[in-house]
Amino acid sequence: MRTNTIHPSSTLRLTSKRRNSIILEFLKEWIRQMNLIVIGTQWGDEGKGKIVDLLSEGADYVVRYQGGHNAGHTIVIGEKKIVLHLIPTGLLQPGKAGVIGNGVVIDPKALLEEIAVLSSEGISVTGRLFISEAAHLIMPYHQRIDLESEKTKGPRKIGTTGRGIGPAYADKMARTGIRVCDLYDPDLFREKLKTNLIEVNLILEQVYHAAGFDVEKIFQEYLTYAEKIKPYITDTARLLNTAIDNGKHLLFEGAQGTHLDVDHGTYPFVTSSNSAAGGACTGTGVGPTRMNEVLGVAKAYTTRVGSGPFPSELKGEMEETLRKKGSEFGATTGRPRRCGWFDVLQVRHTVRINHMTSLAVTKLDVLDGFPEISICVGYQVNGQILDEMPTDLKSLEQATPVLKHFSGWSESTNGVTSYEKLPHNARIYLEALSQLVGCRIDIVSTSSKRGETIVLRTPFPTH
Ligand code: GDP
Ligand code: IMO
Ligand code: MG
Repeated sequence: MRTNTIHPSSTLRLTSKRRNSIILEFLKEWIRQMNLIVIGTQWGDEGKGKIVDLLSEGADYVVRYQGGHNAGHTIVIGEKKIVLHLIPTGLLQPGKAGVIGNGVVIDPKALLEEIAVLSSEGISVTGRLFISEAAHLIMPYHQRIDLESEKTKGPRKIGTTGRGIGPAYADKMARTGIRVCDLYDPDLFREKLKTNLIEVNLILEQVYHAAGFDVEKIFQEYLTYAEKIKPYITDTARLLNTAIDNGKHLLFEGAQGTHLDVDHGTYPFVTSSNSAAGGACTGTGVGPTRMNEVLGVAKAYTTRVGSGPFPSELKGEMEETLRKKGSEFGATTGRPRRCGWFDVLQVRHTVRINHMTSLAVTKLDVLDGFPEISICVGYQVNGQILDEMPTDLKSLEQATPVLKHFSGWSESTNGVTSYEKLPHNARIYLEALSQLVGCRIDIVSTSSKRGETIVLRTPFPTH
């Protein structure tokens, strides 16, 4: 049992021998505890799936804390490619447990489909998947409102994944959301659904001129899902805290990226949850003092799916080449990703607000063969040079990048597993990134495959 009551300050009245032994106990406890948060540092799709899969080997529990099936995390094992949306990536490692925390929004239909896909790949989640009874549900009307509201926005549309994420979180905050536990109280569930649909149908029919929904139809459909997901439902906050008490290691798997975070991102072109590290606490019920490290995953360049400002975005042939070499097409929607140079201002902001302890740089191999590689080190806005990302949308939209140029490398880095074997110019590039954003690099990924990674320091112990 972790002893929260023992604190060095309470040892002042004790003998020095007893005091030392208490401090030693405290430190031992601290060292034994190893909980890591993995986040995206840009606008998502940084390669979190690959890194989480790799690090899951050292974890007992892999925990999703926010977002929903808008996420698309790709893992390549041998010749097999698996894209996970809602299921924690750790479940691909045998014997590991996966937890969907209270901060996630769950579309039960999508969840069951994903479980079925995994099962067809020979991966069983039975006894290893745990879902919070406090998580909010995505209802069919959330998805319809998401799609219809995008249509009305015209050129200011967010470019959502159309999964109903925003409307589900809006209901959560408006206190009209339906939680997983409500499914097991049918009278209450029907009542909530009935009340919600009065307003929802009015909006759908009269504002969007779209079809409304029938209470009984959704009620019956969701009761069927309730039965099927029942074995996974539990009090996950209790489960996770007990696991830490028992010396288990937790890995928190962020979805999206910090610049899609509803508080810290390029608002309103963001998702509707806290994808930054702070979300790992509120989205699971594990307190901040139980977290040890924050690893940020960054692509060696930048991509973005959907609308919104992107100061270092490339246009034309160069963007096409990056997109083609990096296979930059959305893992969830298949949309082409917008591509640009690495943005120091963006990632430095991420390092700061997550107090990141290290970086994993992915897709270095995609930059192979470019005679010159650039990074964005400043923004020019209205004749002024900024060295910090502005908060207001207008400045961000007007920003043009101030670029620093690096000589490229002609050698292939694809599949390289040792830092010394990287071309000289690739190392200069990585070292510059690390220095400019102010964060140590622990991991460099050189291919989409599980083993093809350079690990300079493991931020997570292997068992
Ligand atoms: P996530 O959402 O952050 O998990 O990232 P996605 O899976 O959406 O997109 C990352 C893509 O890059 C996937 O197709 C990965 O298989 C691939 N990938 C990850 N790391 C590397 C790498 O180091 N090199 C290359 N070439 N591809 C990578
Ligand atoms: P992973 O976890 C990249 C983007 C959408 C849109 C905005 C809002 O794979 O990194 P939403 O459907 O969430 O309301 O859409 O956020 N977006 C992502 N972009 N990767 C993701 O997840 C994303 N999840 C949402 O494209 O711009
Ligand atoms: Mg993705």
